[in-house]
Amino acid sequence: MHSSDRQGSCGFRSRQHTGVTHRSPPPDPMAESVRRRRIRGGFAAATLGGCHEGAKVVSVGGMRTDSDNWDINSGVGSTALFVAAARALAARQPEPVAVDPLADVFLRAVGGEWAELIDGAPEQTSEHPLRGSEFGRNFTDYQGARTKYFDDYLLAACADGIRQVVILAAGLDSRAYRLPWPDGVVVYELDRAEVLDFKREVLDAAGHKPRADRVEVAVDLRGDWLSALRHNGFDAERPTAWLVEGLLIYVTPAAQDQLFETIVAASAPGSRAAIEQMEPLPDDAYATMRDADPVEGGGEWASLIYNEPRSDAAQWFPAHGWTATRTEVVDYLRAVGRPEAAEPSEAGFGTSLLNLVTVIAP
Ligand SMILES: C[S@@+](CC[C@H](N)C(=O)[O-])C[C@H]1O[C@@H](n2cnc3c(N)ncnc32)[C@H](O)[C@@H]1O
Repeated sequence: MHSSDRQGSCGFRSRQHTGVTHRSPPPDPMAESVRRRRIRGGFAAATLGGCHEGAKVVSVGGMRTDSDNWDINSGVGSTALFVAAARALAARQPEPVAVDPLADVFLRAVGGEWAELIDGAPEQTSEHPLRGSEFGRNFTDYQGARTKYFDDYLLAACADGIRQVVILAAGLDSRAYRLPWPDGVVVYELDRAEVLDFKREVLDAAGHKPRADRVEVAVDLRGDWLSALRHNGFDAERPTAWLVEGLLIYVTPAAQDQLFETIVAASAPGSRAAIEQMEPLPDDAYATMRDADPVEGGGEWASLIYNEPRSDAAQWFPAHGWTATRTEVVDYLRAVGRPEAAEPSEAGFGTSLLNLVTVIAP
């Protein structure tokens, strides 16, 4: 396998790997078993947004540190690109569950394999992890479903009168630009500066305007991000709709608890939060993935996550007086007409660990 650098139309670099294949099963049963473990690992790996082929881990020894940083093409930042790519493909499905037209804009800006994914000929894209494999189909289904779940949550919060929205780890979330927000909504988008820079430069260059008052807040969500949020106009006396999508697995369990504490402390009565969470992978599955090929097996993604037991939002928030509704992803996929592949399945591995939680402050 080798890789080559490509430059997107906005000057952001994308490393393209070639030689990745998920197409033909290897000839012998042992090799097939290894291949299946890799793909299963890859699915679980990418479920919350990993497995980007060009990811570069900016940390000591390839693992995370408490102060590591990234941009849209590296480390944790690249996971935002991967989920945006899945949203772009989800929008192209017959009767799509969710349509995010701006995902295309980001992919074309990065260029290379990401632009080919939506604009290229089938033979150019058939080896991409999101194409031509059971993993790709199911991951795309899941991203469409999760987008709808959180879209519906935010619009319901606004219908109930909430006008302050905080998106933690916004990445390439385009909701500020595409949802039909009522008048007076402020959307705060929190992420690392480099990720927000990429997003702003791409959308500005393409002439897109937000449909709400959009406020960027460049922070590290492992630190004191509330001060920066307040500094940018956030009012803790007003009810807030918080969104935590595709984030928790990338912070330690302690940082997650701190994040929940901050949400509770900054929430006026009637505030709510919607949270995607994933149970840890079984130790053997995680070890297999961590030791696997960085790209094909999800090894690079494994180095980005904290695969550790952590608080369940559906229990943590009620212990702090909030009410919680927990939805299993397998049930939600069925509800939106994207039933999970029958077990045993390469694709079934990840979604069974995932759930979506909505909590409401007293
Ligand atoms: C899988 S992406 C999800 C992006 C977006 N929520 C979505 O679903 O499209 C993960 C995002 O979390 C952000 N992130 C992870 N850890 C962070 C931290 N400590 N501080 C700020 N952002 C963080 C990354 O920069 C990236 O944009």
